[in-house]
Amino acid sequence: TTNHLRHVESMATMPSGAGNIPHLNAIVLGEALACEENDLIFPSDDFSRQAHVPSPLKYLEMYKRSIEDPAGFWSDIASSFYWKQKWDQQVYLENLDVRKGDIRIEWFKGGITNICYNCLDSNVEAGLGDKIAFYWEGNEPGVDATLTYIQLLHNVCQLANYLKDIGVKKGDAVVVYLPMLMELPITMLACARIGAVHSVVFAGFSAESLAQRIVDCKPKVVITCNAVKRGSKVIHLKDIVDAALIESSQSGVSIDVCLTYENQLAMKKESTKWKEERDVWWQDVIPKYPTTCAVEWVDAEDPLFLLYTSGSTGKPKGVVHTTGGYMVYTATTFKYAFDYKPSDIYWCTADCGWITGHSYVTYGPLLNGASAVIFEGAPNYPNPGRCWDIVDKYQVTIFYTAPTLVRSLMRDSDEYVMRYSRKSLRVLGSVGEPINPSAWRWFFNLVGDSKCPISDTWWQTETGGFMITPLPGAWPQKPGSATFPFFGVQAVIVDEKGVEIEGECSGYLCIKSSWPGAFRTLYGDHERYETTYFKPFPGYYFSGDGCSRDKDGYHWLTGRVDDVINVSGHRIGTAEVESALVSHPQCAEAAVVGVEHEVKGQGIYAFVTLVEGVPYSEELRKGLILNVRKQIGAFAAPDKVHWAPGLPKTRSGKIMRRILRKIASRQLDELGDTSTLADPSVVDQLIALADV
Ligand code: WTA
Repeated sequence: TTNHLRHVESMATMPSGAGNIPHLNAIVLGEALACEENDLIFPSDDFSRQAHVPSPLKYLEMYKRSIEDPAGFWSDIASSFYWKQKWDQQVYLENLDVRKGDIRIEWFKGGITNICYNCLDSNVEAGLGDKIAFYWEGNEPGVDATLTYIQLLHNVCQLANYLKDIGVKKGDAVVVYLPMLMELPITMLACARIGAVHSVVFAGFSAESLAQRIVDCKPKVVITCNAVKRGSKVIHLKDIVDAALIESSQSGVSIDVCLTYENQLAMKKESTKWKEERDVWWQDVIPKYPTTCAVEWVDAEDPLFLLYTSGSTGKPKGVVHTTGGYMVYTATTFKYAFDYKPSDIYWCTADCGWITGHSYVTYGPLLNGASAVIFEGAPNYPNPGRCWDIVDKYQVTIFYTAPTLVRSLMRDSDEYVMRYSRKSLRVLGSVGEPINPSAWRWFFNLVGDSKCPISDTWWQTETGGFMITPLPGAWPQKPGSATFPFFGVQAVIVDEKGVEIEGECSGYLCIKSSWPGAFRTLYGDHERYETTYFKPFPGYYFSGDGCSRDKDGYHWLTGRVDDVINVSGHRIGTAEVESALVSHPQCAEAAVVGVEHEVKGQGIYAFVTLVEGVPYSEELRKGLILNVRKQIGAFAAPDKVHWAPGLPKTRSGKIMRRILRKIASRQLDELGDTSTLADPSVVDQLIALADV
């Protein structure tokens, strides 16, 4: 087709000055692309023509500049934001090499700004005051609300004034435990406005997890709501917060104020348990405050938020993002990866309790003056057509979701999709885990009517924003590949020795040099930051992911290479689940691995050794799972508990997870060498108990 030829031609005629940037050299190899025709999906000419980045050539030009002159590239972009005072002479300062001293990343240091001002006041001043900032769609069809930019600004200011009034100051932490009500982004923005550091805890975490986070960051106030309805279930969030606050006070962290929003549709005030001296109804106090609030101007390197995430060992890590670089990076990635235009209606299905909700529900869209949909409910309630109903209702043009949602809807009849027009859609997005080619094709062909490019965005809580992502319209896509690095991102693949490998290869995904959205430290533990991310491969940031690069330079993420399990796009550390299991008095030892799961991507598979003499029972199995639900949250509950008289260990006592993974996935002919085990007979015992 002519379309195809045009792309290949333009690729082939790219300047060969791509130099030593390996993936660019690969793009230049136009003939290689031609051979893979069947795997390539080309954007339409019409799409490319209107796109911000219409061709590989344009990407090449911008990418090259971003790598050769990061300071110039990013300060040009940063100049379009409002800064009370410009940053210092030096745009960025970095050391990513542990051999050269402490790891340090700074962008726009000395620049004075406020991200809330840039999200709201700037847009209102630019004439967008009456534009819808958020369309809110409730759990029940027909229940909805909107906020314009000016209304959002007023609401944010009222809460900001209240927070100041109760003594919250710049640098203080605020813990937020809210579902997807508009009050969640309102709270984030109010904190940002006064320089307070928000720490949003996903409202699916248990009381114990919430308590752990409260104890770690010692907030001035906790903000929640009484209850929420998700699908047909009512969840009593305030009860969970009450339990968490009892627990945190036992660890010496007591909270004076618990601001509680009355979510009337889920639960009435009267039936909410209340502690008079501590609890305050949002609706009783917030509306009384003035709708204007002076901004607290902060340094670009002042912290904006903490967000806890799981690692392979120990307790969750408080990832720290600062203000200036994060602001510039989330806004820019949003604009290019979704080819955002002012007429778009954008919907991201993520919850603000995760990084995706921070960067691409709240900050990225608002910084671009976008109209975004926020959805409180569940994607299959009241039926599996709900998402497409919402797409039609708001005329959504950009729809960003997770592969697990795609796979779960794929199992239902296509009729649920076809019932709706979906004509408004022009860009689709995916995040959280690799999207398998069959889910990619269903999403592309059916949901997007074969006309919407899919931005499969690879990134992490730590990276703040997109790192490897398609730019829709720029180049052909391959189903399941996150394609090429974003501007300013030097993605490299290294071998076990930390040596960069080029061309067609696979290995560990690392990043060379900093980017503005990078996290700056782990809260209260800079040493763990260095050890976890910068020591494994000196000179690089190590992502924890495996990746391969094909002969055309496309990147294919292959999943975590550490002991982190990705369940429905949620990161869960095996160590956390194991510790919840062994806290059960009848559990002697536990080892947890991830197994392939049709919908969730990965499921949690737990091998459990009981205390001597305790018999296996269904009740015990339930009790063990309940322990995990209570200590982490329902989303971390093991899918399978496998009774284990013993675990396969080396002579030095190390559990051989490789063998456990094979047993869990029933690949029994691929167990490999078991002769180095202290007791090779445990393997046969485990296999014998597989279906007990
Ligand atoms: C995985 C979510 C493949 C990856 C934004 C990463 C992905 C972890 C993709 C981060 C993708 C995320 N393709 N894998 N498009 N996006 N991942 O911190 O393993 O919750 O390390 O951030 O999710 O999860 P996190």
